[in-house]
Amino acid sequence: MTKLKSAKCEHLSGEITVPGDKSISHRSLIFASQAIGTSTIKGLLEGEDVIATSKALKAMGVDIKKQENGSWVVKGVGVGGLSEPECELDLGNSGTGVRLLMGLVAPYGFKTTFTGDASLKKRPMSRVMKPLEKMNIRFESKTGGRLPLTVIGSDEIVPVRYELPVASAQVKSAILLAGLNCRGETTVIEPVATRDHTELMLKGFGAQIAANENNNGGREIKLKGQPELKAMDIDVPGDPSSAAFAVVAALIVPGSEILIKNICTNPLRTGLYDTLLEMGADIEFINKRDQAGEPVADVKVKYSKLKGVKVPAARAASMIDEYPILSVAASVASGETLMEGLEELRVKESDRLQAVSDGLEECGVKFESGSDWLKVIGGEVSGGGLVKTHLDHRIAMSFLILGMVANEPVEVDDSETINTSFPNFVELINVLGGKITS
Ligand code: S3P
Repeated sequence: MTKLKSAKCEHLSGEITVPGDKSISHRSLIFASQAIGTSTIKGLLEGEDVIATSKALKAMGVDIKKQENGSWVVKGVGVGGLSEPECELDLGNSGTGVRLLMGLVAPYGFKTTFTGDASLKKRPMSRVMKPLEKMNIRFESKTGGRLPLTVIGSDEIVPVRYELPVASAQVKSAILLAGLNCRGETTVIEPVATRDHTELMLKGFGAQIAANENNNGGREIKLKGQPELKAMDIDVPGDPSSAAFAVVAALIVPGSEILIKNICTNPLRTGLYDTLLEMGADIEFINKRDQAGEPVADVKVKYSKLKGVKVPAARAASMIDEYPILSVAASVASGETLMEGLEELRVKESDRLQAVSDGLEECGVKFESGSDWLKVIGGEVSGGGLVKTHLDHRIAMSFLILGMVANEPVEVDDSETINTSFPNFVELINVLGGKITS
């Protein structure tokens, strides 16, 4: 465990580029592996989560290599072309990796065993097992659908029409990946629209996929199975969930002004940005363009006097990973920020609602919480605490940002998991003027 400490700093300034989007990076490797021909991926996130997905695909016979110019080359095996892995697949800390790959391997007549770190072993996989069971797939797992888990695949997989009980892009994507190598049409109905990178990318690779809004704000997605996917070149945009840490840092450290280049601004990912604007943030999206089928912009952020707001439950899907860093912004905003509809936070890399509450307490921030809500009462942050991160990268990064405005430095007990999603986080924050040290 490597502790890190973050101390109060002067204004932040400068221009940075954050690493590639984690969701799009996983999907780039996975869909490129299913295409016929060679795909090139620029800007791939080289965090531990994505590297774990690349290793798993390699173990199933996919040729993936990094070139000298930094881009990655994937020689696709085509839909149905994977081979049985000889050993178990270790996805480390990555829920996205394991859940998407569970769907990918389901339509094969072989067994695949998945494992992961202590955090991943606690996370529920039954949400993916249930729809796949309807498609004819069986599983062996620890009680409650935990890892280690074996997918007993079947080449007699049948298509399904499945209504998701939880808003989860991972579950949606797992079903669509299983449907990819399944004859007929697979349909997923989601109650609330969640990030649609899978749909956008499948379309880009040439699959027949259609997503239609239904009357209740949800979507119905239909995929025709067994397409021939064509290789393509992908330029992964920067991760808005990683940029969020620098954005909030610049908003709360007086006198700051920064520019973050090349951020994915898919509206199903930008709930935090909408919330910060409502709080009075000076954030400007400039140089708007399209990249890899996704909207992208450069983001200019200036220090702002934030005020507390009520964040509706309906926004949770579009900012699901950003509640820890929003809680940091809320800690110094004037008034109260109420966040509702947070039940999914309980099953992330940690129980994030508990981890955020404990961290706020440790840093002297006033708050109230319930089973699925958190109210942060803004004011002065005393800091001086040691925050437990529970193998959760976003808890570690969020509280290091809080340290930048606290009266006493804030320490986090373990910073190693930051490498799962944002390997150069400390370097970039310090380049801007942060004071994060070991
Ligand atoms: C992700 C979906 C979200 C998110 C995760 C990445 C994805 O999880 O929290 O970090 O890439 O599909 P859920 O699908 O569990 O909400």
